[in-house]
Amino acid sequence: MKVTVSILKSNLDKTETIKRVEQTDADYIHVDVMDGQFIPHHSLSIYEVNNLFAKSKKALDIHLMVDDVEGHIKAFKHLHVNSFIFHVETKQNIEALIDYVHSLKIKVGLAINPETPTDSLLPYLDKVDSILVMGVTPGEGGQKLIKTTVDKAFVLKGLRTKFNYNYKIGIDGGVNLETRPLLEDFDYLISGSYVCMSDNYQDKIDSLR
Ligand code: DX5
Ligand code: ZN
Repeated sequence: MKVTVSILKSNLDKTETIKRVEQTDADYIHVDVMDGQFIPHHSLSIYEVNNLFAKSKKALDIHLMVDDVEGHIKAFKHLHVNSFIFHVETKQNIEALIDYVHSLKIKVGLAINPETPTDSLLPYLDKVDSILVMGVTPGEGGQKLIKTTVDKAFVLKGLRTKFNYNYKIGIDGGVNLETRPLLEDFDYLISGSYVCMSDNYQDKIDSLR
């Protein structure tokens, strides 16, 4: 199982948290960017992300919970990015965003909120590299997994088999040792507070793999 660590909620400062994640075998670092508009919460600014990750050794999955998805992609495209993840709920043109990110030779993840029906993803399933099923309402680390989101991930797995699509399926939010048994059938897990609020990041990652 691939494991990506979200640095959103940690008991250490961001620099130290990133340093510790860099010392683990986590597949990627998951960077949550919130603009206070697309969702009411704020996280790292463009300036902070660029400073914190200028020399990142691990590749980044940048999760954009922002109105101006395109502007943020432009602001981060020079970093060591594995994928840009934006939401199917965005008001921007999803097809154009997918093409733009692919033109940069970067992968595209499409995230879906707990209350959004899977049907909204149908036009994009043959074009994206991953689907990020939000296990919680985006905004904060440390929330409880909403169990119906796991059903949604199974629907997406069924569609992938049926139509031979290539996207990976990840779960973001509420991933910890307790919820791990429900998530065996998917490709990658994003875990934040379970890892970063602990004193041994590698142990927690091992327990999720
Ligand atoms: C939620 C973020 C998640 C979050 C996961 O808005 O997109 O990436 O940081 O944190 P945990 O694992 O604590 O639920
Ligand atoms: Zn996230």
